[in-house]
Amino acid sequence: MAEFIAILDFGSQYTQLIARRVRENRVYCEILPYNTTANDLRDRPLKGIILSGGPASVYDDGAPDMDPELLSLGVPVLGICYGMQLACRQLGSEVVASTSREYGAAAIRLAETSLFQGISNQTTVWMSHGDRVTQLSDAFETIGETESCPYAAVVHRPTGFIGLQFHPEVTHTPEGKTILNNYLYQICGCSGDWTLSDFISNQIDAVREQVQGQSVVCGLSGGVDSSVVALLLHRAIGKQLHCILVDNGLLRNGESEQVINTFQNHFHLNVHLVNAQERFLDNLRGVTDPEEKRKRIGSDFVEVFREKAEELEGLHFLAQGTLYPDIIESISPIGGPSATIKSHHNVGGLPEELGFELIEPLRYLFKDEVRVMGTELGLPDQIVYRQPFPGPGMAVRVLGEVTPERLAILRDADQIVQEEIESFEFYREIWQSFAVLLPIQTVGVMGDKRTYEHVIALRIVESTDGMTANWVELPRDLLADIANRICNEVNGVNRVVLDVSSKPPSTIEWE
Ligand code: XMP
Repeated sequence: MAEFIAILDFGSQYTQLIARRVRENRVYCEILPYNTTANDLRDRPLKGIILSGGPASVYDDGAPDMDPELLSLGVPVLGICYGMQLACRQLGSEVVASTSREYGAAAIRLAETSLFQGISNQTTVWMSHGDRVTQLSDAFETIGETESCPYAAVVHRPTGFIGLQFHPEVTHTPEGKTILNNYLYQICGCSGDWTLSDFISNQIDAVREQVQGQSVVCGLSGGVDSSVVALLLHRAIGKQLHCILVDNGLLRNGESEQVINTFQNHFHLNVHLVNAQERFLDNLRGVTDPEEKRKRIGSDFVEVFREKAEELEGLHFLAQGTLYPDIIESISPIGGPSATIKSHHNVGGLPEELGFELIEPLRYLFKDEVRVMGTELGLPDQIVYRQPFPGPGMAVRVLGEVTPERLAILRDADQIVQEEIESFEFYREIWQSFAVLLPIQTVGVMGDKRTYEHVIALRIVESTDGMTANWVELPRDLLADIANRICNEVNGVNRVVLDVSSKPPSTIEWE
């Protein structure tokens, strides 16, 4: 990594967005705790430091503070909102706490400086702050002002510190991307040489270094994250990698065969398929409570995985597809909004007690970067753009008791949904599309006969991270095709309904 931007997290809900914007400019960055010191950064190829916003007031008891030495490391520091107020105060300016927040778009007048190169001197920015700077110390220069905020953008000449009261990282600041691009290229002198192929080769070297001659186990589900981890590890250590694929009987039609075909037959990885369908289904017999289902599936998975790993012998490391957003919570020592972005109730994950040393080669990557990496490693689009599939699989989509018969109905209906929806021109914008088998039967008529059969609900949502979601309005003809095919082709179903609820208040899965 030849260039590095440190983003210090003061708890803003936008911290991840700042990181996204920096990476989009092909500059590598990491989100670090706000109390990172200048010393912590000395050995890194540092080109700049960004101080994020945050929910605190600089006057709160125990408000997160920064190491003043960061301002004398010789790299340009950019403070956004709270980060601006904090640094301005340390540099002798006056900050006033306010009980009311200024929130929304504001018109700003900008000075002609390299930070604002390519931007008209009157533009719109997004404000969201309580405290604000009311008096600047001498060494500062104002480079942007709004009606209510005379110091909306400032520079401290002796240290090169830049403070922005507004948020350049959000899309509501239309020219924010240019501002961040200018900060990286004009101010920090970055060259933008970070690419995922470099990242891949660095990770391969790092894995080889860490693993030496030992063996690694990896849970392979066929989802994009575990697939990318497995391929990357295979590139690094070949047959020292052992993948375990647990068929829990709750997968989609043909899913385990597809994974075996891709990874064993095509890429020649060591894949150990454990057929544990009976074990999972036996343990689910008679269970209708959603949480109880999840608990049983989760613990069965860990046990099955453990047994297989013991049988394989000599495994020392466990490779996992943990992504950057999953670990940001553990990075941030404060309970700000960024701390609420957490990994999901992850049934299908593995606990630390398994006793392996961890390898997490994706822990600094965002989901879209993992997809690009998958493509670079040669993964087919079908896997790279696969929709998320929950660890407990079909069990949380067969509402009520999970029986082989009910699973078979859902699988067939689900296959039709998948086949039909892949033809939709905006397929890649769909986060998840699936069928749910309801725990009721309804009356229908088929030919001359009255029927009393199952109901399938269609759940089709768009989302960026699964935390919130909107239902997707599919074209009427496509919906009609799906419904007709399900009623005609799936034995035991006589009705299809559409879920038109968003998250919140509903969740994406029905259980
Ligand atoms: P909900 O239903 O909470 O789901 O809105 C949000 C996202 O998480 C997925 N999900 C899971 N993923 N293990 C997983 O790996 C689970 O136990 C689990 N439960 C829900 C869900 O499919 C959606 O993408």
